Amino acid sequence: MSSEWTAAEMPDLSGSRVVVTGANSGLGFEATKAFARKGAHVVMACRSRERGREAMRGVRDEVPAASLTLGELDLADLDSVRAFAETFDEEFGALDVLCNNAGVMAIPRRETEQGYEMQFGVNHLGHFALTGLLFDALRESSGESRVVTQSSGVHENGEMDFDDIDGEDGYDEWEAYAQSKLSNLLFAYELQRRLDSGGIDEVTSVGCHPGYAATNLQRRGPEMSGSKLRLAAMRVANAVVAQSAEMGSLPMLYAATADDVEGGDYVGPTGLMGMRGYPGKVESSDLSHDEDDARRLWDLSEDRTGVAFER
Ligand SMILES: NC(=O)c1ccc[n+]([C@@H]2O[C@H](COP(=O)([O-])OP(=O)(O)OC[C@H]3O[C@@H](n4cnc5c(N)ncnc54)[C@H](OP(=O)(O)O)[C@@H]3O)[C@@H](O)[C@H]2O)c1
Repeated sequence: MSSEWTAAEMPDLSGSRVVVTGANSGLGFEATKAFARKGAHVVMACRSRERGREAMRGVRDEVPAASLTLGELDLADLDSVRAFAETFDEEFGALDVLCNNAGVMAIPRRETEQGYEMQFGVNHLGHFALTGLLFDALRESSGESRVVTQSSGVHENGEMDFDDIDGEDGYDEWEAYAQSKLSNLLFAYELQRRLDSGGIDEVTSVGCHPGYAATNLQRRGPEMSGSKLRLAAMRVANAVVAQSAEMGSLPMLYAATADDVEGGDYVGPTGLMGMRGYPGKVESSDLSHDEDDARRLWDLSEDRTGVAFER
């Protein structure tokens, strides 16, 4: 593992197909450019066609030869997830890297199209369904394929409240975010255990987190709740403390392509308090390794999404 690994060290990715959710903004946008620079075909999965098109232009400004497709994906609507996966299967058939990256953070309580709490629904359930629906395509890849799921250092504050997973009896926007990011890791590790027990070695599941990177993520909650004070505080913190979105995208890129990454690894910045720096393998909370919670979350996710992984 290099202590100063950058995207330039990724291997040539010509011929490989990568799906990045939330590709129009922040870490997803940076990762898209980096994958494209190495010759991968990137399917930019975005909820807004307009923002997606604008982002495509932005990628091509910097990487003129970028090979890109825009895919419409609203993770807050499981019908949209199904439609995206069907279109992907028709057009491409095989998938080499799936980056489960899109997310929302600390927003006021909202519900997905199917009536689940939004942060849990978008950050976890939508990606659970997407991974399951693209599972055949991942197995069709000619070499090893990877599922990379973007968590957060905030997962360490998370606990699974299975009695009130949607925060109907009491909602705290940060607790819900932490629970959704813990769910990302419980899912990433449980998927790897299931791959291992099923003898499926052509697909690998890895978790990652970006540390603290200045993106649009921090704006959404204060904007939705109309808190000018919180918005101002976020702006200052982003300017003073955060690293760039480009640096924040490195753990995801490392998790997706580095040779020394194995299923069940967790990759994040190795610098100051895990908030910044170059990527490497890091540790996640004890709760993220709780196998009972992971199985319970898996069963609940299958029930809610109607997606079961074919093995
Ligand atoms: N930045 C950080 O410091 C930080 C720290 C820890 C973890 N993370 C994680 O990193 C990931 C990427 O965040 P970011 O920092 O790059 O934030 P960002 O700039 O706000 O990007 C988030 C992306 O997710 C998309 N998204 C939101 N809701 C969606 C939905 N319902 N369906 C499909 N896409 C949706 C957004 O689309 P729109 O542009 O249309 O809204 C956007 O493309 C998130 O999972 C976040 O939890 C970030």
